[in-house]
Amino acid sequence: MTQLLWQKPGVKVDERIQRFLAGEDVILDREFFLFDIQASRAHAEGLQQIGILTADELDGIRRELAALADDFSAGRFVLDEQFEDGHSAIEARLIERLGDTGRRIHTGRSRNDQVLVATRLWLKDRLARVAALCRESAEVALARATAEASLPIPGYTHLQRAMVSSAGMWWAAWAEGFIDDAVRARDTLAWVDANPLGSAAGYGVNLPLARDHTTHALGFGRMQVAATYAQLSRGKFEMAAIDALGAALLDVRRLAWDLSLFTSAEFGFVALPAEYTTGSSIMPNKRNPDVVELMRASYSAVAAARTEIEQLLSLPSGYHRDLQFSKGAIFHAFGRGLGALELLPDLLRNLEWKPERMRAALDPSMYATDLAVDLARQGMPFRDAYKQAADPARWAEGDPEASLAARVSPGAAGDLRLDVLQQRLDALR
Ligand code: ARG
Repeated sequence: MTQLLWQKPGVKVDERIQRFLAGEDVILDREFFLFDIQASRAHAEGLQQIGILTADELDGIRRELAALADDFSAGRFVLDEQFEDGHSAIEARLIERLGDTGRRIHTGRSRNDQVLVATRLWLKDRLARVAALCRESAEVALARATAEASLPIPGYTHLQRAMVSSAGMWWAAWAEGFIDDAVRARDTLAWVDANPLGSAAGYGVNLPLARDHTTHALGFGRMQVAATYAQLSRGKFEMAAIDALGAALLDVRRLAWDLSLFTSAEFGFVALPAEYTTGSSIMPNKRNPDVVELMRASYSAVAAARTEIEQLLSLPSGYHRDLQFSKGAIFHAFGRGLGALELLPDLLRNLEWKPERMRAALDPSMYATDLAVDLARQGMPFRDAYKQAADPARWAEGDPEASLAARVSPGAAGDLRLDVLQQRLDALR
C-alpha cells in the first residue's frame, strides 16, 4: 500500500486492522472514481479562483486529472488495494506527476466532503436512469393499453374471478404506475441535487472557498449550505434515492407476479418472449420464467439496502466511519434494481396474449356487477338492483364483452382516459 495520508511517523499500521478499515472500500470506490476526479477538477478551479493555485498549476492538475480518467476508463490505471481509497489514489497520482502542485490539491477539502460529493453525483446519475427507464416502460404500457383496450381478461379480487377486465386496463395500471415512479425518481433527483463540496470535514474551512463555482461546474441545482448538515445528509439522501428506486421495483415485483401466474398452464394467458425464459437441467419439457422471477426478487436488495443504511444512521452529528458502509448498500440496490428495470421495456413490448385462453376464463357471474349498475342506471335503487343481479338466472342475459365495452372503450361511459396518462407522459419528456 502507498503511504497512508494520515500515517504518523514511527507508528506502524497493523495489516489486519488496515484491512478491516479499508475492507473492500477501495474496490467500491471504483464506482465513484470518475465522479471523484470530476469533483477534484472543480475543487482545483475553485482553489485557483481564490489564489491557492496559479493558472499554470491548475492547467497541470486539469491535464493530469483528464489523463487519470482516461487511464482508468481504458484499464491502464487500476484502482486496487495498493491505495487506501479512491480519494488518496487521486492525490497520489497528482503528486507523482506534479510534485508540489499535487501536494496542494487537498487544501480546503476533506475526504468527508469528497466522498459526499462523489456519492451525490453518482446518485443523480442513477436516479436519472431510473426515471428514464420507468418512462420508457410507461410508454410501452400506454401504447399497448390503447391497442388492447377491449381485449377481455378476467379481473380478480382475492385471486377469485370478479369482473370482466381487459388487457387495456391491465396495461393502463402499469402505465400510470411507472409514470408515478418516473415522477418520483425525478422529484427525488431534484431533492438530492445539492452540492456538499466545500463543507470539508463537516465544519468548513478558514478559506473563502468558491462554492458557487463548484456548484455550477458540477451541474448541481443548489449548494448545500450548512457544513455539518452536509455530513448529516449522508445516508439520508441515499435512503431517499433508494426509496424512489424501491417504488419502481415494487411495481416491477407485482407485475412480475402477474406474469408468473399468467404464464402458468393453469392461467395460460401470456407467452413470454423466448429469451426471457430458461430451461431445466433435468426436466426436458420445462420453459421457466426465471428472468421474471429475478426481476420480482430484485426488490429484496432494495429493501435490504434501505434497512442497512437506516441502521447505520443511528449516530450523533459529525462524520463517523460507520457511514462508509452506505456505499456497498447503494451499489447493491441500484445494481440489482437498474438491472431489472433495464429488462422491463422489452419484456412489456414483446409479451404475447393468448386471447382464446383469456376468453375461456370468463364466466357469466362476472357480469353481475355490470348488470346491477345497468339496472341502477335505469332507475332502480342500487341496493335493490344488487339483489336482483345476485340471481344467477339473470347473468345469462348479459354479454360480458359488451358490458366490458361500456367500461373501457374510448368515449364510452367508463372511458379509460388514456389521454390523461398520455399528457402526463408527454410532460416527462
Ligand atoms: N471511505 C471513507 C467513507 O466512505 C471516506 C472518508 C474517510 N474519512 C475519514 N475521516 N476517515 O466514509
